[in-house]
Amino acid sequence: MQIIDGKATSQKVKDEIAAEVTQMKAKGGKTPHLAAILVGNDGGSETYVAAKIKACEYVGFKSSLVRFKDDVSEDELLAKVQELNDDNDIDGFIVQLPLPKHISEQKVTDAVDYRKDVDGFHPQNVGRMSIGSPAFISATPQGIMELIKRYKIETSGKHVVIIGRSNIVGRPMSILLSQKGYPGDATVTVCHSRTANLKEVCLQADIIIAAIGSPEFVKADMVKQGAVVIDVGTTRIKSDTTKSGWKLKGDVAYDQVAPKCSWITPVPGGVGPMTIASLLQNTLKAAKKEIY
Ligand code: GUN
Repeated sequence: MQIIDGKATSQKVKDEIAAEVTQMKAKGGKTPHLAAILVGNDGGSETYVAAKIKACEYVGFKSSLVRFKDDVSEDELLAKVQELNDDNDIDGFIVQLPLPKHISEQKVTDAVDYRKDVDGFHPQNVGRMSIGSPAFISATPQGIMELIKRYKIETSGKHVVIIGRSNIVGRPMSILLSQKGYPGDATVTVCHSRTANLKEVCLQADIIIAAIGSPEFVKADMVKQGAVVIDVGTTRIKSDTTKSGWKLKGDVAYDQVAPKCSWITPVPGGVGPMTIASLLQNTLKAAKKEIY
């Protein structure tokens, strides 16, 4: 069994971006600028946004944080989105999710200029990604694709079983891995809460992508010997043994599953750190006008 090290890979990606930004600046180019809108004080969102801003500093990007209280109106938030759309200095921005219940996440997502949609959530980007046109691809699927590429995991002709059909992970992964070329050319099965015989389906998988948000859902008896297992789960569980008081749990029962795998991503330190690297890659692409 070998570990797919997302922490080290994300560091490598960040260092590559930092080197490129240094060169861009030396040539008198613009400093890439990422903005984030954060509504309310959700603990997870605070942590993620803080990490995104820290990563911007590391690679030499400019970053801006716009905060709203959780009673902000939808109109006020939409007005800010429009302001960021119109701000020529901002190359890309994100609206951290989840949003309070009185605000439509779809409406806000749709309002972001797709050319600045470095989260890859806008229907224009999702649509273009699904037909194989250049697009901003959302952070988690892009991070997984990057890991597969950098670890040279074979996907052609392989049976990939994805557990979870979310718009931000399961569904885009199924599209990307079934596309022509590498990493792709796989036969993909998408499983979800209504899938019959899930265990039997998983046992046929050469590659399992677990993205259900249910801690330790994938057990050893669901995994074929030699399979590649990618764990997207990041459930925060209260813990007395960590400084933060929280511990991350993946969707895979790591201790029992890992010995059966050829490759596996740990939690933490697997897919998670790659999501920030992907966001930085997208922001750099936006600054370079590489896609639009
Ligand atoms: N909430 C959880 N993941 C994400 C993400 O990738 N982008 C945004 N905007 N919000 C999130």
